Amino acid sequence: MQKILAGTLQDLEIKGRLIVKSGKRQILVLRSSKGIHAVDHRCPHEGYPLSQGVQNDCVLTCAYHNWKFDLQTGQNSVGGDGLKIWPVELRDQQIFVSVAEPNPLEVQKEAVGQVEEALDQRNAGLLMRGLARYSNSVPTDRG
Ligand code: FES
Repeated sequence: MQKILAGTLQDLEIKGRLIVKSGKRQILVLRSSKGIHAVDHRCPHEGYPLSQGVQNDCVLTCAYHNWKFDLQTGQNSVGGDGLKIWPVELRDQQIFVSVAEPNPLEVQKEAVGQVEEALDQRNAGLLMRGLARYSNSVPTDRG
């Protein structure tokens, strides 16, 4: 599993949050009373940056439409979809994030389930997010 260096504990203390890139993805690193957390920087609702959100210990609230996420589990307590979380490892005061991408077939299967759920609920937002998730999981030769 590929690990990337997000920064040091001192960096996190000074800046309050770190943002690192892994391919096309941005990962937000935060600290709470439960430890250090790495989550997608883009909100699963409409993609706004979660670094602009409000953190209340283990709960991160998106600044745009107030979806709320548990930093330990990624579960959503207000809003819809959950937040992708990444394993974190602390080594010699350095913060490493494990960034292995999920199996595209599993992502596609989950996206199809999300689309079916959206159709049942007649939820256009959920439908669009499911379609985008499916589309993004299909490899292209354009990179
Ligand atoms: S973009 Fe985050 S709640 Fe809408």
